[in-house]
Amino acid sequence: MSITIAAAAIAVFLATSADAKTVLITGSNSGIGLEFAKQYAAKGWDVVATHRRSTAPESIETLRAQYPDQVRVETMDVTNHEQIDVLARKLEGTAIDVLINNAGITGDFRNPAPQSFGTLAYADWENFMRINALGPLKISEAFAPHVKASEDKKILAVSSLAGSFGYKGPNMAGGYWYKASKAALNMYMKNVANDLKGDGVTVALLSPGTVKVEKLGDVNFPGLISPADSIRGMISVIEGLTVEDSGAYYRYDGTEQPF
Ligand SMILES: NC(=O)c1ccc[n+]([C@@H]2O[C@H](COP(=O)([O-])OP(=O)(O)OC[C@H]3O[C@@H](n4cnc5c(N)ncnc54)[C@H](OP(=O)(O)O)[C@@H]3O)[C@@H](O)[C@H]2O)c1
Repeated sequence: MSITIAAAAIAVFLATSADAKTVLITGSNSGIGLEFAKQYAAKGWDVVATHRRSTAPESIETLRAQYPDQVRVETMDVTNHEQIDVLARKLEGTAIDVLINNAGITGDFRNPAPQSFGTLAYADWENFMRINALGPLKISEAFAPHVKASEDKKILAVSSLAGSFGYKGPNMAGGYWYKASKAALNMYMKNVANDLKGDGVTVALLSPGTVKVEKLGDVNFPGLISPADSIRGMISVIEGLTVEDSGAYYRYDGTEQPF
């Protein structure tokens, strides 16, 4: 290979890594968040993979080892507003093309009592709201400057059809704290969409389907889909979003999810 060709190859590599887009994902150490991190890294994006643990979980350390130049692992508990502000300051100057508010809790599906009428555990309510609704709101506020500075300018939140008033399907009993927290999330993100539309930022909600994440073990529900299929679909939805879609709510398959 001549020196000229080698120099051209290096120039292409430098241009590619400098031009790479950036995604920040909350709760990226398992399930849907981890699959988002894997698929964006495989697409050549820079990934800021955040988690709430005191040490980096093995799942994202493995991904970082696979993509050492692309994956950056950061600590961010979505209920810890000081930690959110610290990371936002640390990433000052980093444009975030796609911000994915994914972290969330659902409650233990093997023990529905704390979220069932008659045995409601009222002390749990606040935790659901702080993680599932306030976390994405605070993170959207803290990282809005990074998103505005990017090319794509997109903020997403992983919601759930369980939070939809329009959902008419099965399994509608119980889940009080989870459902209400996702309904609150939907309203917060609609507000954020209104507030950021003038800056060209697209804010949207995503409904991932019923996804067979690790914590389900060998449990099977009708209609379960793989994380790979759900996230492939959601990434395709994200890619297709324009600012005209801001405030919208889409299923992983691209159809509209009723609020
Ligand atoms: N799986 C489904 O079928 C489904 C359907 C509809 C919606 N969703 C939504 O999808 C999102 C991801 O859920 P999943 O199914 O992938 O479950 P998961 O495997 O339990 O993932 C949840 C992630 O959120 C993180 N997390 C929880 N509390 C946090 C906090 N305070 N700060 C930062 N991270 C926190 C968890 O971290 P730890 O490991 O440290 O707990 C974990 O990484 C959730 O918002 C969920 O409501 C899932």
